Amino acid sequence: MTGIMTGTAGHASPPSAPPHAPVLLAAVLGVMAARDGATYIDATFGAGGYARALLDAADCNVLGIDRDRAALALGDKITERYPGRLRVVSGCFGDMVEIVKALGIERVDGIVLDLGVSSMQLDDAGRGFSFRHDGPLDMRMGSGSAVAADVVNTYPEKDLADLIYRYGEERASRRIARAIVKARAAAPITRTGELADIIRGQVKSGGKKGAKRRDPATRTFQALRIHVNDELGELGRGLTAAETLLVSGGRLVVVSFHSLEDRMVKDFIRLRSGGQPRPSRHRPLAAGFSRPPSFKPIGRGVVKPTAFEAAANPRARSARLRAAARTDAAAWNMPGSPGPAGDSEETAPGKDAP
Ligand SMILES: C[S@@+](CC[C@H](N)C(=O)[O-])C[C@H]1O[C@@H](n2cnc3c(N)ncnc32)[C@H](O)[C@@H]1O
Repeated sequence: MTGIMTGTAGHASPPSAPPHAPVLLAAVLGVMAARDGATYIDATFGAGGYARALLDAADCNVLGIDRDRAALALGDKITERYPGRLRVVSGCFGDMVEIVKALGIERVDGIVLDLGVSSMQLDDAGRGFSFRHDGPLDMRMGSGSAVAADVVNTYPEKDLADLIYRYGEERASRRIARAIVKARAAAPITRTGELADIIRGQVKSGGKKGAKRRDPATRTFQALRIHVNDELGELGRGLTAAETLLVSGGRLVVVSFHSLEDRMVKDFIRLRSGGQPRPSRHRPLAAGFSRPPSFKPIGRGVVKPTAFEAAANPRARSARLRAAARTDAAAWNMPGSPGPAGDSEETAPGKDAP
C-alpha cells in the first residue's frame, strides 16, 4: 500500500457541533478496525464524521471524497486539525480509481460509503432537497447541469411516472405524474413547496396509524434526487472501484438508506463472495456460475441502528450497514477479465416499471 496524505498544517479549532451526526459510527469503526500506518477512503466525506473518527482511532491516513462544494469547504477546515494525515478532494466516488491513481495511491486498507444526502444538504432550503423547507427545485449534490426542475417540467408523463415508480417505489406514480403534467401546463413548477403540494393533493400520508406519518412527497422527492444525481449508477461504479482499490484483507463498509441501495449492496457482496445472483425474470439463474470470490462478508448480513440511536437521530432510522473484506482473488471487473463485468445486471438497479 502506498500513499501519504498531505494536508495544511494549522491550529484552527473544530466546529462545536458537527452539522451532520454520523450514522452507525460505532459499527463503522468496529468493521474498519483502524490501524497505524493504514490508508482509508471516506468516499462520502460530508461533515467528516467517519474520517475524523478513523483519524482519532489510529495514526492512519484518510482520503475524503465528496462531490459537494459545501462538504469540501468544511473538509478544508477539518484537514487543518490532522496535518499530513487527511486530504479531502472533489469528485464522485464512482470515479474513485482515477481519483486515487491521480494522487499516486495504489491500494487502500478500507473504504466507507455513507450514501444519500447529508443533514447540511437537507437543511439548506436553497439546495432544493427538502419538501419541508420551500426552495428552488434543484437537488444537485454536485455541479451537474440538470436540476430537478428540468426533469419535472420537461419529461414526458410516462417517463416521469416510470422514474417515480422505479426510484421512489411509489405506487401512485402515474397519478402523480399526471398531476405534475397538468400543473406545469399552467406554469413551470420551480419550487419544492409547489411540487410537494401537487403530490399531497394526490397521495395520502403513508406509515402506520399512531406513528409519525410519512409525508406523501417523500417517495417522489427521493426518486427525483436519485435520478438527478445518478445515485444508483454511482453506487454500482463505486462498489466495483472499491473491489479494484482494496488490498487483500481491506474492508468495504456501506451505509445505505433505502431498499434500492441496500439491495444493490447486498447483491454485490453476495455475488462477489461466491453466492448465486438473484434470479429474476430478466435473468434466469445461470448454471455452473462460479469465480474465485473477491470478497468475504463480515458479520451476519445487515446492521441496523439501535432503538436508542434511531430515537436520538431520526435520520438514522432507515440506515442499513453491510460490510465485506477483500480476498486476494483478482477483481472481477478488471479490464480483460472474463465473466460478469462491474456494471452488469448484478449491480444495476431493478428494471421493473409500471
Ligand atoms: C450522508 S452524507 C455523509 C456524511 C458523513 N459520513 C459524515 O459523517 O459527515 C453523504 C455525502 O456524500 C456525498 N455524496 C453522495 N454521493 C456522492 C458521490 N457519488 N460521490 C461523492 N460524494 C457523494 C454527499 O454530497 C454528502 O456530502
